[in-house]
Amino acid sequence: MSAPATPRRVIIDTDPGLDDAVAILYAVACGRFEVLGLTTVAGNIGIEASTSNSLRLLAAMARSDVPVRRGAAQPLRRGGAELTSIHGDDGMGGLTLPPPQAQAQGEAVGWLVEQLQSAPAGSVDILALGPLTNIALLVRDHPDAAARMGRLIVMGGAVDEPGNIGARSEYNFATDPEAAQMVLGAGLDLTVIPLDVTRRVRVLPGQIASLRGSRAGDLCAEIIALYFGTGRESRPLHDPCVMLFAVEPGLFGLDTLSLAVDVSEGPEAGALVRYPDGPPIKVAMRVDGPGAIEALRHGLNAAQRSSC
Ligand code: RIB
Ligand code: CA
Repeated sequence: MSAPATPRRVIIDTDPGLDDAVAILYAVACGRFEVLGLTTVAGNIGIEASTSNSLRLLAAMARSDVPVRRGAAQPLRRGGAELTSIHGDDGMGGLTLPPPQAQAQGEAVGWLVEQLQSAPAGSVDILALGPLTNIALLVRDHPDAAARMGRLIVMGGAVDEPGNIGARSEYNFATDPEAAQMVLGAGLDLTVIPLDVTRRVRVLPGQIASLRGSRAGDLCAEIIALYFGTGRESRPLHDPCVMLFAVEPGLFGLDTLSLAVDVSEGPEAGALVRYPDGPPIKVAMRVDGPGAIEALRHGLNAAQRSSC
């Protein structure tokens, strides 16, 4: 693990979601981020559950001081489809969480504008874990504020890897292809973390116990066991890869690719395609999978070490 640097100021845009939950818990626990707030988006589950799950995860970590802002209830133009088959009817696999200790005040995009305009330009990163609807609305309606963003690190897409919705399309980009296209073309300091790497970051059943040892680690072990569902030997930790890239970029290998998003009405809507005239995008195409799991375990239990 690299030496702890000054915590990066981040906003997490999320649709929790079990892998989102692991990512949020890691971000709150690892000591490498100053989490300014969470903005929620409809995706794995509807906007109300996505927002409630965010509030309850923060309550479970005694971090109800972190604000949550409710975002887009549906994609820019399409219908969207919840992933209850993976994340359960409540989006959290039936996990028992405390009730929210705060409320989601105000709406997401307006709050993002306030945060970006009040902070020094480039000082706030956005970690996007769901469909990119909120980020696209920010780019479309508030371009000056969007330009003040630091890094935008996005979990989404598949380049050479098969999709998880269509043969080529990945869930976050397939849910809101127009939003993905708008964000990729916005000229931001964007890094995409696609299925090509996230599918190689997997906790195995025998590793779950090693995550335990702190409030965050214990909760993550419970969540990952639920995420496995019945009979699965493992599941990829898609969204935690965004946080891991943000603080341990050496675990990943980046390529710069000219890409476009399929915005057709066809079965591959949302697919990333190599397109010579497309904008050059930084894409993580390689990862040290075991190293990523070790970094996750290390970060989840940071508080335990510092209290020793
Ligand atoms: O394709 C994986 C992505 O879709 C992850 O963000 C997961 O939470 C789901 O939203
Ligand atoms: Ca997600």
